[in-house]
Amino acid sequence: MLCCVKFANSHALHLIPDHSHQMAYKRKTVPLSYYKISEMNTIRKIGVLTSGGDAPGMNAAIRAVVRAGVYEKYEITGICRGYEGLINNEFTPLYRHSVSNIIQRGGTILKTARSERFMTEEGRELAHQNLIKAGVDALIVIGGDGTFRGAMALGNTYQYPVVGVPGTIDNDLYGTDFTIGYDTAINTVVEVVDKLRDTAASHDRLFFVEVMGRDAGFIALRSGIACGAEEILVPETETSIDDLIAKLENDYRENKTSGIIIVAEGDDQGGAFDVAKKVKEKFSFYDTRVSIIGHMQRGGSPTCMDRVLASTLGYEAVMALKKGERGVMVGQINKVIACTPFEKATKHHLEINKNMLKMARILSL
Ligand code: F6P
Repeated sequence: MLCCVKFANSHALHLIPDHSHQMAYKRKTVPLSYYKISEMNTIRKIGVLTSGGDAPGMNAAIRAVVRAGVYEKYEITGICRGYEGLINNEFTPLYRHSVSNIIQRGGTILKTARSERFMTEEGRELAHQNLIKAGVDALIVIGGDGTFRGAMALGNTYQYPVVGVPGTIDNDLYGTDFTIGYDTAINTVVEVVDKLRDTAASHDRLFFVEVMGRDAGFIALRSGIACGAEEILVPETETSIDDLIAKLENDYRENKTSGIIIVAEGDDQGGAFDVAKKVKEKFSFYDTRVSIIGHMQRGGSPTCMDRVLASTLGYEAVMALKKGERGVMVGQINKVIACTPFEKATKHHLEINKNMLKMARILSL
Protein backbone atom coordinates (compact mmCIF):
# COMPACT_ATOMS: atom_id res chain seq x y z
CA MET A 1 0.00 0.00 0.00
CA LEU A 2 1.32 3.44 -0.87
CA CYS A 3 1.45 6.24 1.63
CA CYS A 4 1.73 9.87 0.60
CA VAL A 5 4.41 12.06 2.16
CA LYS A 6 5.41 15.69 1.70
CA PHE A 7 8.69 16.88 0.21
CA ALA A 8 10.34 20.21 0.81
CA ASN A 9 13.55 20.57 -1.23
CA SER A 10 13.41 22.93 -4.19
CA HIS A 11 15.00 22.56 -7.61
CA ALA A 12 14.52 25.23 -10.24
CA LEU A 13 14.45 24.79 -14.02
CA HIS A 14 15.82 27.01 -16.75
CA LEU A 15 13.80 26.77 -19.92
CA ILE A 16 14.26 28.41 -23.26
CA PRO A 17 11.35 28.67 -25.70
CA ASP A 18 12.18 26.67 -28.78
CA HIS A 19 9.53 26.40 -31.47
CA SER A 20 11.67 25.76 -34.49
CA HIS A 21 13.92 22.86 -33.59
CA GLN A 22 13.07 19.47 -35.05
CA MET A 23 14.26 16.15 -33.74
CA ALA A 24 14.12 12.68 -35.19
CA TYR A 25 12.10 10.42 -32.95
CA LYS A 26 11.66 6.79 -33.85
CA ARG A 27 11.72 7.15 -37.61
CA LYS A 28 9.21 10.03 -37.42
CA THR A 29 10.24 13.67 -37.48
CA VAL A 30 8.24 15.55 -34.90
CA PRO A 31 8.55 19.13 -33.69
CA LEU A 32 10.28 19.58 -30.37
CA SER A 33 7.27 21.12 -28.72
CA TYR A 34 6.91 24.26 -26.65
CA TYR A 35 10.14 24.27 -24.64
CA LYS A 36 13.52 22.71 -24.66
CA ILE A 37 15.47 22.46 -21.42
CA SER A 38 18.79 24.27 -21.73
CA GLU A 39 20.63 21.23 -20.40
CA MET A 40 18.87 17.93 -21.05
CA ASN A 41 20.22 16.47 -17.80
CA THR A 42 18.53 19.19 -15.72
CA ILE A 43 15.73 16.78 -14.91
CA ARG A 44 16.58 14.78 -11.82
CA LYS A 45 13.20 13.93 -10.41
CA ILE A 46 10.07 12.98 -12.38
CA GLY A 47 6.56 12.98 -10.93
CA VAL A 48 3.88 10.62 -12.20
CA LEU A 49 0.12 10.81 -11.67
CA THR A 50 -3.10 9.32 -12.99
CA SER A 51 -6.09 11.58 -13.48
CA GLY A 52 -9.71 11.49 -14.71
CA GLY A 53 -11.58 8.21 -15.14
CA ASP A 54 -9.44 5.20 -14.30
CA ALA A 55 -8.62 2.78 -17.10
CA PRO A 56 -7.28 -0.80 -17.03
CA GLY A 57 -3.58 -0.63 -17.83
CA MET A 58 -2.86 2.54 -15.86
CA ASN A 59 -0.88 0.45 -13.37
CA ALA A 60 1.17 -1.08 -16.17
CA ALA A 61 1.93 2.47 -17.38
CA ILE A 62 2.96 3.60 -13.87
CA ARG A 63 5.21 0.55 -13.61
CA ALA A 64 6.82 1.36 -16.96
CA VAL A 65 7.45 5.00 -15.99
CA VAL A 66 9.04 3.94 -12.70
CA ARG A 67 11.19 1.18 -14.14
CA ALA A 68 12.32 3.20 -17.19
CA GLY A 69 12.95 6.18 -14.90
CA VAL A 70 15.04 4.13 -12.48
CA TYR A 71 16.98 2.70 -15.42
CA GLU A 72 17.71 6.24 -16.62
CA LYS A 73 18.79 7.22 -13.09
CA TYR A 74 15.87 9.57 -12.40
CA GLU A 75 14.21 9.77 -9.01
CA ILE A 76 10.51 9.02 -9.36
CA THR A 77 7.75 10.49 -7.24
CA GLY A 78 4.16 9.30 -7.37
CA ILE A 79 1.40 11.85 -6.86
CA CYS A 80 -1.80 10.42 -5.38
CA ARG A 81 -5.29 11.38 -6.59
CA GLY A 82 -4.21 13.19 -9.75
CA TYR A 83 -4.18 16.98 -9.74
CA GLU A 84 -6.00 17.02 -6.38
CA GLY A 85 -2.95 15.32 -4.90
CA LEU A 86 -0.67 17.91 -6.48
CA ILE A 87 -2.65 20.64 -4.73
CA ASN A 88 -2.80 18.69 -1.45
CA ASN A 89 0.88 17.73 -1.52
CA GLU A 90 0.26 13.99 -1.72
CA PHE A 91 3.70 12.93 -2.93
CA THR A 92 5.19 9.50 -2.44
CA PRO A 93 8.58 8.21 -3.58
CA LEU A 94 8.42 5.25 -5.97
CA TYR A 95 11.19 2.68 -6.29
CA ARG A 96 11.53 -0.28 -8.60
CA HIS A 97 9.89 -2.57 -5.99
CA SER A 98 7.01 -0.14 -5.40
CA VAL A 99 5.54 -1.26 -8.73
CA SER A 100 6.07 -5.01 -8.37
CA ASN A 101 3.03 -7.19 -9.00
CA ILE A 102 0.79 -4.44 -10.41
CA ILE A 103 1.03 -4.98 -14.18
CA GLN A 104 -2.02 -7.28 -14.10
CA ARG A 105 -4.17 -5.10 -11.85
CA GLY A 106 -7.01 -2.83 -12.96
CA GLY A 107 -7.59 0.62 -11.46
CA THR A 108 -4.62 2.74 -10.41
CA ILE A 109 -2.41 2.31 -7.34
CA LEU A 110 -1.94 6.09 -7.35
CA LYS A 111 -5.71 6.62 -7.24
CA THR A 112 -7.36 9.22 -9.43
CA ALA A 113 -9.70 12.19 -9.27
CA ARG A 114 -11.37 14.82 -11.41
CA SER A 115 -10.07 18.04 -9.84
CA GLU A 116 -12.28 21.13 -9.93
CA ARG A 117 -9.63 23.14 -8.09
CA PHE A 118 -6.97 22.47 -10.71
CA MET A 119 -9.22 24.20 -13.24
CA THR A 120 -8.62 27.46 -11.35
CA GLU A 121 -5.46 29.59 -11.51
CA GLU A 122 -5.16 29.47 -7.70
CA GLY A 123 -5.25 25.67 -7.73
CA ARG A 124 -2.58 25.43 -10.42
CA GLU A 125 -0.41 27.99 -8.62
CA LEU A 126 -0.54 25.87 -5.45
CA ALA A 127 0.19 22.71 -7.42
CA HIS A 128 3.19 24.33 -9.11
CA GLN A 129 4.58 25.58 -5.80
CA ASN A 130 4.27 22.07 -4.36
CA LEU A 131 6.10 20.59 -7.34
CA ILE A 132 8.96 23.07 -6.92
CA LYS A 133 9.10 22.49 -3.15
CA ALA A 134 9.25 18.74 -3.68
CA GLY A 135 12.03 19.16 -6.22
CA VAL A 136 9.98 17.51 -8.96
CA ASP A 137 11.45 18.76 -12.24
CA ALA A 138 8.98 17.24 -14.71
CA LEU A 139 5.65 15.44 -14.75
CA ILE A 140 4.24 12.46 -16.59
CA VAL A 141 0.43 12.54 -16.53
CA ILE A 142 -1.62 9.47 -17.44
CA GLY A 143 -5.22 10.20 -18.40
CA GLY A 144 -7.57 11.54 -21.04
CA ASP A 145 -8.81 14.78 -22.51
CA GLY A 146 -9.33 16.68 -19.23
CA THR A 147 -5.98 15.50 -17.89
CA PHE A 148 -4.15 16.91 -20.89
CA ARG A 149 -6.04 20.19 -20.75
CA GLY A 150 -4.83 20.55 -17.15
CA ALA A 151 -1.30 19.60 -18.20
CA MET A 152 -1.39 22.20 -20.97
CA ALA A 153 -2.47 24.95 -18.54
CA LEU A 154 0.33 24.03 -16.10
CA GLY A 155 2.92 23.79 -18.88
CA ASN A 156 1.94 27.04 -20.56
CA THR A 157 1.67 29.16 -17.41
CA TYR A 158 4.84 28.02 -15.69
CA GLN A 159 6.81 26.57 -18.62
CA TYR A 160 6.73 23.37 -16.61
CA PRO A 161 7.76 20.21 -18.49
CA VAL A 162 4.88 17.76 -18.83
CA VAL A 163 4.52 14.69 -21.02
CA GLY A 164 1.21 12.80 -21.31
CA VAL A 165 0.30 9.13 -21.67
CA PRO A 166 -3.20 8.43 -23.10
CA GLY A 167 -5.15 6.45 -20.52
CA THR A 168 -8.92 6.36 -21.03
CA ILE A 169 -11.38 3.65 -21.99
CA ASP A 170 -13.04 6.08 -24.44
CA ASN A 171 -10.28 5.97 -27.10
CA ASP A 172 -11.19 9.52 -28.07
CA LEU A 173 -7.77 11.16 -28.23
CA TYR A 174 -6.17 12.47 -31.37
CA GLY A 175 -2.55 11.32 -31.79
CA THR A 176 -2.81 7.64 -30.95
CA ASP A 177 -4.59 4.73 -32.61
CA PHE A 178 -5.56 3.29 -29.24
CA THR A 179 -5.68 4.58 -25.69
CA ILE A 180 -4.77 2.49 -22.65
CA GLY A 181 -7.87 0.73 -21.28
CA TYR A 182 -9.93 0.74 -24.45
CA ASP A 183 -9.13 -2.85 -25.43
CA THR A 184 -10.02 -4.17 -21.97
CA ALA A 185 -13.25 -2.15 -21.90
CA ILE A 186 -14.47 -3.42 -25.28
CA ASN A 187 -13.63 -6.99 -24.29
CA THR A 188 -15.69 -6.52 -21.13
CA VAL A 189 -18.61 -5.28 -23.25
CA VAL A 190 -18.27 -8.24 -25.61
CA GLU A 191 -18.31 -10.69 -22.71
CA VAL A 192 -21.45 -9.12 -21.24
CA VAL A 193 -23.31 -8.80 -24.55
CA ASP A 194 -22.55 -12.41 -25.47
CA LYS A 195 -24.32 -13.39 -22.27
CA LEU A 196 -27.23 -11.07 -22.99
CA ARG A 197 -27.50 -12.62 -26.46
CA ASP A 198 -28.17 -16.02 -24.86
CA THR A 199 -31.09 -14.79 -22.82
CA ALA A 200 -32.35 -12.50 -25.62
CA ALA A 201 -32.50 -15.44 -28.03
CA SER A 202 -34.12 -17.74 -25.47
CA HIS A 203 -36.93 -15.27 -24.74
CA ASP A 204 -37.25 -13.70 -28.22
CA ARG A 205 -36.37 -10.29 -26.82
CA LEU A 206 -34.81 -7.12 -28.08
CA PHE A 207 -32.09 -5.73 -25.74
CA PHE A 208 -30.97 -2.11 -25.65
CA VAL A 209 -27.48 -2.18 -24.16
CA GLU A 210 -25.88 1.05 -23.01
CA VAL A 211 -22.11 1.37 -23.12
CA MET A 212 -19.86 4.23 -21.96
CA GLY A 213 -18.90 7.14 -24.14
CA ARG A 214 -20.31 10.58 -23.31
CA ASP A 215 -18.88 12.22 -26.39
CA ALA A 216 -17.49 9.34 -28.40
CA GLY A 217 -18.82 6.12 -29.89
CA PHE A 218 -15.59 4.14 -30.14
CA ILE A 219 -16.55 1.64 -27.43
CA ALA A 220 -19.99 1.19 -29.00
CA LEU A 221 -18.67 0.79 -32.53
CA ARG A 222 -15.98 -1.82 -31.97
CA SER A 223 -17.84 -3.86 -29.35
CA GLY A 224 -21.00 -3.65 -31.48
CA ILE A 225 -19.21 -5.12 -34.49
CA ALA A 226 -17.66 -7.86 -32.34
CA CYS A 227 -21.07 -8.79 -30.92
CA GLY A 228 -22.89 -8.66 -34.25
CA ALA A 229 -25.23 -5.98 -32.89
CA GLU A 230 -28.36 -5.31 -34.96
CA GLU A 231 -27.75 -1.55 -34.63
CA ILE A 232 -25.06 0.69 -33.11
CA LEU A 233 -26.01 4.20 -31.99
CA VAL A 234 -23.17 6.68 -31.49
CA PRO A 235 -22.94 10.40 -30.63
CA GLU A 236 -21.00 11.15 -33.84
CA THR A 237 -23.97 10.43 -36.12
CA GLU A 238 -27.57 11.59 -35.92
CA THR A 239 -29.87 8.83 -34.74
CA SER A 240 -33.28 8.57 -36.39
CA ILE A 241 -35.81 6.60 -34.34
CA ASP A 242 -37.92 6.11 -37.48
CA ASP A 243 -34.96 4.59 -39.35
CA LEU A 244 -34.24 2.35 -36.38
CA ILE A 245 -37.85 1.18 -36.32
CA ALA A 246 -37.81 0.57 -40.08
CA LYS A 247 -34.72 -1.61 -39.63
CA LEU A 248 -36.35 -3.53 -36.75
CA GLU A 249 -39.55 -4.04 -38.77
CA ASN A 250 -37.49 -5.44 -41.59
CA ASP A 251 -35.62 -7.74 -39.19
CA TYR A 252 -38.96 -8.93 -37.83
CA ARG A 253 -40.29 -9.64 -41.33
CA GLU A 254 -37.09 -11.58 -42.03
CA ASN A 255 -37.83 -13.76 -38.99
CA LYS A 256 -35.28 -12.32 -36.59
CA THR A 257 -36.75 -13.21 -33.26
CA SER A 258 -34.32 -11.30 -31.03
CA GLY A 259 -31.70 -8.58 -31.25
CA ILE A 260 -29.09 -6.35 -29.61
CA ILE A 261 -29.02 -2.58 -30.03
CA ILE A 262 -25.83 -0.99 -28.67
CA VAL A 263 -26.37 2.58 -27.47
CA ALA A 264 -23.45 4.85 -26.54
CA GLU A 265 -24.44 6.82 -23.43
CA GLY A 266 -23.94 10.13 -25.27
CA ASP A 267 -26.20 9.34 -28.24
CA ASP A 268 -28.29 12.32 -29.40
CA GLN A 269 -31.51 10.38 -28.71
CA GLY A 270 -30.42 9.73 -25.12
CA GLY A 271 -29.24 6.62 -23.30
CA ALA A 272 -30.59 3.08 -23.69
CA PHE A 273 -33.70 3.72 -21.56
CA ASP A 274 -34.68 6.77 -23.65
CA VAL A 275 -34.12 5.02 -26.96
CA ALA A 276 -36.01 1.89 -25.82
CA LYS A 277 -38.96 4.04 -24.72
CA LYS A 278 -39.07 5.95 -28.01
CA VAL A 279 -38.96 2.72 -30.02
CA LYS A 280 -41.57 1.00 -27.88
CA GLU A 281 -44.03 3.89 -28.39
CA LYS A 282 -44.25 3.12 -32.12
CA PHE A 283 -43.16 -0.49 -32.44
CA SER A 284 -44.23 -3.27 -30.12
CA PHE A 285 -43.42 -6.49 -31.95
CA TYR A 286 -40.56 -7.38 -29.64
CA ASP A 287 -40.55 -7.74 -25.90
CA THR A 288 -37.78 -5.33 -24.91
CA ARG A 289 -35.27 -5.06 -22.06
CA VAL A 290 -32.61 -2.49 -21.19
CA SER A 291 -29.19 -3.26 -19.78
CA ILE A 292 -26.65 -0.65 -18.69
CA ILE A 293 -23.14 -2.03 -18.37
CA GLY A 294 -21.78 1.06 -16.59
CA HIS A 295 -18.59 1.20 -14.58
CA MET A 296 -17.87 -2.50 -15.03
CA GLN A 297 -16.27 -1.28 -18.27
CA ARG A 298 -13.66 0.63 -16.30
CA GLY A 299 -12.48 -2.25 -14.13
CA GLY A 300 -10.80 -5.60 -14.44
CA SER A 301 -7.42 -6.97 -15.29
CA PRO A 302 -6.00 -5.30 -18.43
CA THR A 303 -5.80 -7.37 -21.60
CA CYS A 304 -2.45 -8.30 -23.12
CA MET A 305 -2.91 -5.51 -25.71
CA ASP A 306 -3.45 -2.90 -22.99
CA ARG A 307 -0.51 -4.11 -20.90
CA VAL A 308 1.84 -3.93 -23.87
CA LEU A 309 0.53 -0.54 -24.97
CA ALA A 310 0.78 0.85 -21.43
CA SER A 311 4.29 -0.53 -20.97
CA THR A 312 5.40 0.92 -24.31
CA LEU A 313 3.88 4.38 -23.80
CA GLY A 314 5.04 4.65 -20.17
CA TYR A 315 8.57 3.78 -21.25
CA GLU A 316 8.44 6.15 -24.23
CA ALA A 317 7.15 9.01 -22.04
CA VAL A 318 10.33 8.83 -19.94
CA MET A 319 12.48 8.67 -23.09
CA ALA A 320 10.57 11.62 -24.57
CA LEU A 321 11.25 13.75 -21.48
CA LYS A 322 14.89 12.74 -21.63
CA LYS A 323 15.08 13.79 -25.28
CA GLY A 324 13.62 17.20 -24.46
CA GLU A 325 9.97 16.76 -25.46
CA ARG A 326 7.53 18.94 -23.53
CA GLY A 327 3.80 19.60 -23.73
CA VAL A 328 3.10 16.48 -25.76
CA MET A 329 1.14 13.27 -25.53
CA VAL A 330 3.08 10.14 -26.43
CA GLY A 331 0.98 7.86 -28.62
CA GLN A 332 1.30 5.14 -31.18
CA ILE A 333 0.16 5.67 -34.77
CA ASN A 334 0.50 2.78 -37.21
CA LYS A 335 2.85 1.06 -34.76
CA VAL A 336 5.17 4.08 -34.67
CA ILE A 337 5.64 6.21 -31.55
CA ALA A 338 4.41 9.75 -32.13
CA CYS A 339 4.43 12.85 -29.94
CA THR A 340 1.40 15.10 -30.42
CA PRO A 341 1.14 18.53 -28.74
CA PHE A 342 -1.54 18.55 -26.03
CA GLU A 343 -3.40 21.26 -27.89
CA LYS A 344 -3.81 19.04 -30.93
CA ALA A 345 -4.54 15.88 -28.92
CA THR A 346 -7.41 17.57 -27.09
CA LYS A 347 -8.81 19.99 -29.68
CA HIS A 348 -8.69 17.83 -32.78
CA HIS A 349 -11.44 15.29 -32.85
CA LEU A 350 -10.56 11.71 -33.56
CA GLU A 351 -13.02 10.78 -36.30
CA ILE A 352 -15.12 7.69 -35.93
CA ASN A 353 -14.77 5.32 -38.89
CA LYS A 354 -18.10 5.68 -40.72
CA ASN A 355 -17.20 2.79 -43.03
CA MET A 356 -17.07 0.50 -40.03
CA LEU A 357 -20.56 1.66 -39.02
CA LYS A 358 -21.81 0.94 -42.53
CA MET A 359 -20.13 -2.46 -42.49
CA ALA A 360 -21.71 -3.29 -39.12
CA ARG A 361 -25.17 -2.54 -40.60
CA ILE A 362 -24.57 -4.73 -43.64
CA LEU A 363 -23.22 -7.60 -41.56
CA SER A 364 -26.20 -7.54 -39.21
CA LEU A 365 -28.74 -8.10 -42.00
O1 F6P B 1 -14.05 9.20 -19.61
C1 F6P B 1 -14.23 7.89 -19.22
C2 F6P B 1 -15.64 7.63 -18.80
O2 F6P B 1 -15.69 6.29 -18.40
C3 F6P B 1 -16.74 7.96 -19.81
O3 F6P B 1 -16.90 6.99 -20.81
C4 F6P B 1 -17.93 8.08 -18.91
O4 F6P B 1 -18.92 8.87 -19.51
C5 F6P B 1 -17.35 8.76 -17.71
O5 F6P B 1 -15.99 8.41 -17.67
C6 F6P B 1 -18.00 8.40 -16.39
O6 F6P B 1 -17.43 9.18 -15.39
P1 F6P B 1 -17.64 8.95 -13.84
O7 F6P B 1 -16.80 7.78 -13.41
O8 F6P B 1 -17.17 10.21 -13.23
O9 F6P B 1 -19.09 8.66 -13.62
